[in-house]
Parts: sequence; C-alpha cells; structure tokens
Amino acid sequence: MIILGIETSCDETAVAIIKGEKVGTKNLLSVRSNVVSSQIDIHKKYGGVVPEIAAREHVLNVLPVVNEALEKAGIKREEAGEKIDAIAVTFGPGLITSLIVGIETAKVLSCVWDVPLIGINHIEGHIYANFVGESRIKFPALILTVSGGHTMLVLMTGHGKYKIIGDTRDDAAGEAFDKAAKLLNIGYPGGPAVAAEAKKFNPECSGQKFKIQLPRPMINSKDYDFSFSGLKTALFYQLKKDPLRLAEGPLRRIEASEASKNWKKRIPEYCAEFQQAVVDVLISKTINAAKEFKVKTVMLSGGVSANQELRRQMGEKFKIQSRVLGTKFKIPSLEYTTDNAVMVATAGYFRALRKDFIDWKKIKVNPNLELK
Ligand code: KG4
Ligand code: ZN
Repeated sequence: MIILGIETSCDETAVAIIKGEKVGTKNLLSVRSNVVSSQIDIHKKYGGVVPEIAAREHVLNVLPVVNEALEKAGIKREEAGEKIDAIAVTFGPGLITSLIVGIETAKVLSCVWDVPLIGINHIEGHIYANFVGESRIKFPALILTVSGGHTMLVLMTGHGKYKIIGDTRDDAAGEAFDKAAKLLNIGYPGGPAVAAEAKKFNPECSGQKFKIQLPRPMINSKDYDFSFSGLKTALFYQLKKDPLRLAEGPLRRIEASEASKNWKKRIPEYCAEFQQAVVDVLISKTINAAKEFKVKTVMLSGGVSANQELRRQMGEKFKIQSRVLGTKFKIPSLEYTTDNAVMVATAGYFRALRKDFIDWKKIKVNPNLELK
C-alpha cells in the first residue's frame, strides 16, 4: 500500500510517501520520499511562529513540496491516482490557518485522483514516528509525547487506541525550552539552542561562586501531570540576580568586553541545569507510569525527543528497569522527531488497514483536536 502524507499544522510544510506491506504478522514500512520545507529562518527574527506568515508560506510551498515528494518517490504526476492508495493529512491540533492549507490540498488531491482520504491527529502522527521501519511494538505501550505544544503521557493499548494519563498544566516542554532560550537570548528554536549550549558545560570550569539550581516541578506529585512554567520563572529570577548577567546587561553591544565574555561562559551552565531539570521530571514520571501500567514498550515522540540527553538518560534508566519490568524502550530516528509527513503517512497506513477513511466532503479542521 502506498500512502502520501501531508503535514502543515505549524511551520513546516511536509509531504512524504511511504510504502507499507504486511508480511506474515509484521508490517514493513519503507520511506519512498520525505520532503520538509522548514520556515524556521523566516520566523527566527520574530522569536516564534507568526501564524499569518506560516499560513502564507504553506500556500506558496505546498504544491512544490507535493511535486518534489512524487518525483523523489519515482511517481509521475499523471499516474499518481493509480499508484497512491490513500492520502493521510493532519487535521488538528495546530494553527488553524496552517492546518487548512494542508487539508484543502489533501481534499483536492483526493477528489481529483479519486483516492481515499484519512484524517490524522498530529499527536498520533508523532507517536507513529516510532513505527517507521519495523513495527513489532508490543502493547500496552506508554508514549511520552513532548513537543512545542504538548507534554503528554499516553497509554496506547492497540493501534488507534489511546488514553491520556498525564498532560501539561501550563507550558509544554518544548515551549519551556523556547522561553528559556529567549530569556538567555541564545536564539530560536530554543530546544536545539539550549541543548547546544548545555553541551559546552564543563562542571570543572564553571567556577564555584554561583551554583545554579533550578526546581524540578511536580516531580514528586502522585499524578502524571507536568508543569513547566514555574521552571521558566525560576530561571528568570536566577538570571535577575546573577552578578555576571547584571554586569553584562548594559554592555551587551560591546561583544568583546570582559563582562560579556564572562557572561557567555556562564550560559552553558544555565542551559545544562535547565535541560537537566526538564529531563529529570520527564524521566521520573515516565518510569512511574511504566511501572503502574505494566507496559511492554515505552516510546518517545515529538520535537523534544530530539534531545540527546533525554534520549540517552531515558535509555539508560530503562536498560536497568527492563530487567525488572520487561519493558522495551524505543526512540524514533532523529529525522522523524520534529514535524514531518512520514509520521503522518505511517499513522495513515495503520488507519488504512482498518479502512478508517473519511469522505473529502466531511473532513474538517480542528485546531483543538483531542487524541482519542
Ligand atoms: O514536534 P515539533 O517539531 O512541533 C510541535 O508539534 O510543536 O516540536 C518543536 C519543539 C520546539 O519547542 C523545539 O524547541 C523543540 O521541539 N526541540 C527540542 C530539540 N529540538 C527541537 N527541544 C529540546 N532539545 C532538542 N534537541
Ligand atoms: Zn509536532
């Protein structure tokens, strides 16, 4: 089965084509093409995604991206209707004006090519990034979904069967990284910027005068909810009283100044502590939930799952836990962590197996779509 996926829920215009086939009890999935047109450089100067600009860019990009995905998969445009078995499109959650561009494109292609349409929840897409390649994933599975808009612990009892057992009460993990990067003035998107700075941190050289310590919000709460806005506020107050930061403030333009150099040396320490605070909370809650629900598989998904420390530390913890719990730990390959359409097409394949199609006249954008 050949599935074309379309993803436009935020600031990436993405189209992918995958091939899925059942071999015995296994589903083998291979990627025929994967095109992502990122708008990061456009939104960078605003420090975040501007919805109106994102939508306009999607309108300009979507057809060239569809075309490129077809070409890379070796499918001629005139034969697309025969070669493609279904079109999967993200219909929520996300930015309404961005989502509309993807959905309208998918509707037109479904109508013109006479190919069935499948609606995909963006979070479901992130989860299915783990199913690319081989899919012998045992249920029940627990998925930590951490992106710019969501921080969730999802219990998955079978394909398309989800129960949200924990959610964020305020900022999502990715949002927290983005806000921290803004406070530290180190660029956008914040996650990769914080991670890159944190990597430079060497505790031996950090100096002892000002040891940074940030809270681990809700780490001991009995539920599986998250809260990251307090962490950002704690960072804000630490920065406010840091003598190096204060010295740097008025001299910021004089890049080579001594104060500026000292402050720049301090940034990695802030980033390392901030990143570790997020990672500690995510790992602790995930392990507790894995124990309580006796899951067979634990998976990561979403943009923040690109974070190397989260991947490494969670992997190490589950290596120890797996002996006791018998839980397998799985991470999506890096290219499928942030928004892409391979994950959407993959989720689409499993829905197509269940013949879960939707009439192109009936699909509707839902910016607040819930995972059910
Ligand atoms: O899944 P995604 O591409 O879009 C949403 O659905 O939101 O996630 C984007 C988020 C951003 O907040 C970004 O800062 C974060 O993922 N992110 C990271 C890393 N790479 C991306 N956060 C931490 N470490 C990273 N390496
Ligand atoms: Zn996403």
